[in-house]
Amino acid sequence: MSLTLNQQEFEALAVEQLVDAVLDGSQPERACLTCSFQAEDIIVLDLLRKRLPRIPVLFLETGYHFAKTYEFRDRLAVDWKLNLVNVLPEKTVAEQEAERGLLYQTDPTACCQLRKVAPLMKALEPFDVWFTGLRREQSPTRANLKKVEEHRLPSGKALLKVSPLADWAWAQVWERTGARRLSYLPLYDAGYPSIGCEPCTALPSDPGNARSGRWGGRKLECGIHTFSERAG
Ligand code: ADX
Ligand code: SF4
Repeated sequence: MSLTLNQQEFEALAVEQLVDAVLDGSQPERACLTCSFQAEDIIVLDLLRKRLPRIPVLFLETGYHFAKTYEFRDRLAVDWKLNLVNVLPEKTVAEQEAERGLLYQTDPTACCQLRKVAPLMKALEPFDVWFTGLRREQSPTRANLKKVEEHRLPSGKALLKVSPLADWAWAQVWERTGARRLSYLPLYDAGYPSIGCEPCTALPSDPGNARSGRWGGRKLECGIHTFSERAG
């Protein structure tokens, strides 16, 4: 990777320029996007696929997503000819539930670790650049997010974590979705502003906090954005 801009300079770039600057300085085959098919991810994917139509789109397939999420994923994969990578946990839902019951009720942190965090750690190993749809506004835990951050995986492997929409407000996300005529998960029309696994996603209890319906307010993060060490 040979990036010519520093973190502050990246922050000043508009989303298109930021994506270009990162891709210009990296090997295209070493970039990926983690995608839960929420509106932010579709916007980032819309930008990335212009330059990298075969970019690996990593979907953490926990086995617990909404049927509508699976339908939407599958339709977009066909329409956009995506290089979709379903990242699987070691155990199926049936195996995990037989051994440990409904972990999402009794110990959601362990469930997320087994079904999201551990599989993602492995899946990121081959990559130098990790694009996300994260935004600062989403949570106090994301307030200090930078558009471009250096991260280290537990294995020691270094990579750039890139969140082109870090400074966007939800209104911008929705406006861009309309302006680009991007398709979106139908769950938004049913009132869900933040969408993850079905058992851990409810309508927001606080209308001012989009993520208040996630994990019944019991936790703010599943762990996929906290397991890697921020190095810069
Ligand atoms: S979460 O950690 O609380 O689930 P959130 O739903 O806000 O995250 O999504 C933020 C970013 O995390 C997405 O833009 C995407 O990059 C990544 N992400 C979250 N869930 C998944 C998933 N199931 N598969 C792939 N990426 C995901
Ligand atoms: Fe399990 Fe819920 Fe985490 Fe999904 S979000 S992996 S169902 S605890």
